[in-house]
Amino acid sequence: MEVPTLASNQLVPINVKEQEFQKIMRIYEMAMIQVKDNLENMKNNLSNFYQYDVINNINCRVKTPDSIIKKMKRKQYDLNYKNLIENVDDIAGIRVVCPFKNDVFKVVKIIEENPNLEILQKKDYITKPKKSGYSGYHIIAQTPVNIGDAFANVKTEIQIKTMAMDFWSSTEHKLKYKAKNKLSKTDSKKMVKYAKIINKMDNEIMKIHKKYEEET
Ligand code: GTP
Ligand code: MG
Repeated sequence: MEVPTLASNQLVPINVKEQEFQKIMRIYEMAMIQVKDNLENMKNNLSNFYQYDVINNINCRVKTPDSIIKKMKRKQYDLNYKNLIENVDDIAGIRVVCPFKNDVFKVVKIIEENPNLEILQKKDYITKPKKSGYSGYHIIAQTPVNIGDAFANVKTEIQIKTMAMDFWSSTEHKLKYKAKNKLSKTDSKKMVKYAKIINKMDNEIMKIHKKYEEET
């Protein structure tokens, strides 16, 4: 069955205090909870299969109105619901954190095989980190959400990373926030250097883990 994407053809300006906005946010929240539950299931199956926790933890959040508006302004979109639905892919965000680097790819594979998640986009910033040093695997996936009398496909952003990558990205985010979004050139360079160290560490620890895994 073809499920339509979340429809809002409205070009009316976004008003975060309006019912329409709250209604749309609730739909994204439902999508987020559905995907999180789905991933929790995968977490249990993976733990049983591999005999260790391939997924360490799963966090999620719905983007705040402020941050949605800020992003749309930054990307120069007119502030209407059509642009919000079509162009802001990370309103519902789920982060999956794994102990070892190859675990990330195990998770990507089972997400790809999940019939409830239709993958729209994949970005592998692990094989090729961003210029900032940022590393992680991003998937934009849509999931059908029951909206009363019908189902709508809703986009969610799933970020999969190692604990070390998660440490880097969350601390870098905090530093950038303190620095009003832009680190000095020297500090950015330092962060790229630390990202490389973290990447090397992830590789080495994965190798040690693989070695012992083969022995058992
Ligand atoms: P955004 O406009 O930020 O969403 O970028 P994009 O649409 O090109 O997507 P991308 O996959 O590059 O980034 C999506 C998300 O990844 C961001 O919203 C952040 O949560 C995270 N991210 C990307 N780059 C960085 C970075 O350099 N540092 C940190 N801390 N997080 C990043
Ligand atoms: Mg994005």
